[in-house]
Amino acid sequence: MAKYDYEAFMQDILRLTKIDLTFYKQAQMKRRIDTHISKSPYKDYEEYVGELKKNRKALDEFVEYITINVSEFYRNPDQWEILTKRIFPMLIEKFGTNLNIWSAACSTGDEPYSLAMALSEFVPLNKIKITATDISDEVVAKAKIGLYGEKSVANVPAKYKKEYFTQNGPAYQISDKIKNCITFKKHNLLKDDFFKNQHLIVCRNVLIYFTEEAKDEIFSKYYQSLAPGGVLFIGSTEQIMKYKDIGYNRLDSFFYQR
Ligand SMILES: C[S@@+](CC[C@H](N)C(=O)[O-])C[C@H]1O[C@@H](n2cnc3c(N)ncnc32)[C@H](O)[C@@H]1O
Repeated sequence: MAKYDYEAFMQDILRLTKIDLTFYKQAQMKRRIDTHISKSPYKDYEEYVGELKKNRKALDEFVEYITINVSEFYRNPDQWEILTKRIFPMLIEKFGTNLNIWSAACSTGDEPYSLAMALSEFVPLNKIKITATDISDEVVAKAKIGLYGEKSVANVPAKYKKEYFTQNGPAYQISDKIKNCITFKKHNLLKDDFFKNQHLIVCRNVLIYFTEEAKDEIFSKYYQSLAPGGVLFIGSTEQIMKYKDIGYNRLDSFFYQR
């Protein structure tokens, strides 16, 4: 009988979760999964997948573990300054204040909530509509609750921390005023349709886990998703190698315009 190996495991995971692990950098992902299994009571992929098939909680935990969802508010503050000082004014001049904004792979909500706060400098909160998506149900549920630790909110400007959070000991609860700006949805970047006519897409610190081919494909799909003149904001360790071939104009290290 054929050995149940990592290939077979990836196929089962695709059936169980719709997550295609072949699009993620293999060495890194396999190492992560091997470590996870070595700390569990199961001795190999086959035993472990047997558990995932019958235990929904274990499956959810597995998805949360492999999707790596560390985040924080205003991650890399220098880039948020460029967004606030240069990109938002440019987008508002071009498209007006009804901007379509998509925070893709938003994790626990730190990123879309930061977007709402930053945009509130220019647009009243009741006019701000941001779509925030992630593949993991667990992080989307956490994002909707909106409760954060000290470290997550460390970079939030003092005036927003005061205005948009209620502090209870070490816990910070985001206010409903900010929550109401965001619509959270489950969305898999490797499988689901992309939204159209976006003015700003923020996709940071997720594509680093994907293969080069998957990245190229997603950057092209974002291009199609953007309205002409719209901007893609990426993570601080990322770059779009073929940006000219795709059609992007590079505005700054981490901002690309259609
Ligand atoms: C490291 S977090 C980045 C969060 C936030 N964008 C930031 O920069 O702080 C990566 C997120 O990507 C999500 N993710 C992983 N694979 C995905 C996929 N195929 N489609 C959508 N989201 C995915 C994970 O669930 C995780 O929440």
